[in-house]
Amino acid sequence: MKAVVVYESLWGNTAAIARAIAEGIGSQTRALSTGEAVGEAMAGVDLVVAGAPLIGFRLPADGMRRSIERDPKHAGRPPDLASPSMRAWLAALPKGSGHAAAFETRLKWSPGSATGAIAKGLARLGYRRISQDRRFLVTGTYGPLAAGELERAKAWGAELARLAEGG
Ligand SMILES: Cc1cc2nc3c(=O)[nH]c(=O)nc-3n(C[C@H](O)[C@H](O)[C@H](O)COP(=O)(O)O)c2cc1C
Repeated sequence: MKAVVVYESLWGNTAAIARAIAEGIGSQTRALSTGEAVGEAMAGVDLVVAGAPLIGFRLPADGMRRSIERDPKHAGRPPDLASPSMRAWLAALPKGSGHAAAFETRLKWSPGSATGAIAKGLARLGYRRISQDRRFLVTGTYGPLAAGELERAKAWGAELARLAEGG
């Protein structure tokens, strides 16, 4: 089974969860940034798991990413914008027929969701949803991840692998 975990991550929390999910799926599975998950990396994928942070109550748009970069409030914690947004990645992704699942990292009590837009984007391309969306929690605005979230992510990865393999 070819599985790929794809992430958008401005401060590293979603990337860490993506790596834990990939580890749970199996040793051949890699977590790739939206910049890396293109072309051959996505060809014939049986399972795509895609995740992003919840920013401003939604999946970040490119304008939101730019305004965070410019906002002096975040100067001490500059976002990593080297890879495209999840929205841009979804817009450029070719049609597929594998299974899909979506996740987000976020604070516990916030309204809104990033996974809705990710799941919808993947479904529009033909991917078949294999699991409920998952939320992984941070304890502060820039992180860190809450205790136990990496273990929970790894366990979800193992569950997704079992589902995708039909067992
Ligand atoms: C500018 C900014 C806006 C945020 N907005 C929200 C929000 O609306 N809801 C929420 O639950 N968390 C919010 N967060 C927290 C992030 O979702 C959380 O830190 C996430 O794990 C970041 O993921 P990343 O490190 O992969 O970029 C915000 C954080 C920042 C810095």
